[in-house]
Amino acid sequence: MDTSICSIDGMEGILRYRGIEVEQLEQMPYDAVSYLLIYGKIPAPQELEAYSRKLREERYINREILNVLKVCNYGTEALDSLRTAVCCSAHMDEEKDDSSMEANMNKSIRLVAKFPTLVAAVHRYKTGKFLIAPDEKLSHGANFLYMLRGTVPSAIEAEAIEKDFILSAEHELNPSTFSLRITASTMADIYSAVITGLCTLKGPLHGGARKGVMDMLDEVASHENAEQYVLDKFSRKEKVMGFGHRVYKTCDPRAKLFKDIAKKLADDHGDTQWYDLAERLEQVMYREFMQNKGRPIYPNVDFYSAVVYKYLEIPPELATSVFAAGRVSGWVSHYFEQYSHNRVIRPRANYI
Ligand code: SDX
Repeated sequence: MDTSICSIDGMEGILRYRGIEVEQLEQMPYDAVSYLLIYGKIPAPQELEAYSRKLREERYINREILNVLKVCNYGTEALDSLRTAVCCSAHMDEEKDDSSMEANMNKSIRLVAKFPTLVAAVHRYKTGKFLIAPDEKLSHGANFLYMLRGTVPSAIEAEAIEKDFILSAEHELNPSTFSLRITASTMADIYSAVITGLCTLKGPLHGGARKGVMDMLDEVASHENAEQYVLDKFSRKEKVMGFGHRVYKTCDPRAKLFKDIAKKLADDHGDTQWYDLAERLEQVMYREFMQNKGRPIYPNVDFYSAVVYKYLEIPPELATSVFAAGRVSGWVSHYFEQYSHNRVIRPRANYI
């Protein structure tokens, strides 16, 4: 399937959005990267200001949706509540029956703008805390942490969450994006396509892995226990969350960038427990794979991002939803690209 949105070199470990490498994109504000994905070009300063203003205006959630969230007493995964809230938003969107390019662009901006607010509201209700309205003075990422935790994040924390949204934003035909494109290929509406992506992202072998890594860090707790943990998993032939990738045959470039962000947060917090534990797990996994399979295994995007979430006090049950808050920009970009083909994706099976 052709695309102009993302390219991955699995052998060299290179990831580009619209031809620009993530190492460069990571230095930009999330709004600029989101604009690049959706519009296909780096925004001029006045274009970025207009886009950011639209996003800031659309961050708010109406009372009916918040009331639905209040009764959504989700279990272990906030994504269920987010999925319900997006379904309700689809019903209440004033342009829901308009499939014009302009209406779809407005809906995609509403989705990108509202995901962080929805995720924060889910958490505040779940933990019995009062809701916090968006602060239009804060960046996309900083505003999310403010609504989630009730305090304005430090500069390092704001930088970390912006980079998380950027590095989570897009990854070619990963399972959730591919399933979204199938829905888009039937000419279904953008909300239906994004809900498809949300449902697919939840699986523990895909976006759910980030929660799996956070749970693993809590279970192992200290770098002294890392070796035995890995050996036990191998003996039970169980997979270790956050490692391996279907496409990368060398290290996922996002894992390297997240590792740097995690180190910066660990040093800023004066607490390297989670970083040291993660690094030890990485070393043991590499050694065990080389010894037992004659090849290495590397961390993927979900491994060190989980360490970043630990330092940002993002709870495990929110991890997949926060991933979705970044990924929604990539999803809506793929929706537009697929929708423009006006041709259904219909693979054949091999009958056995
Ligand atoms: C994401 O596609 C994307 O782009 C997704 C994503 C994105 O940005 O959207 O990058 C995000 O989903 C990252 C992946 C998150 N999932 C996990 O971290 C779950 C753990 N990882 C594994 O499930 C696995 O590595 C996959 C699914 C990620 C990749 O699977 P592959 O390449 O198909 O590998 P495999 O399952 O065929 O395994 C090959 C071998 C097996 O051993 P053998 O049977 O050959 O002896 O490698 C082993 C596996 O057991 N193996 C692992 C392992 N991953 C592979 N062993 C232990 N721990 C692991 N994590």
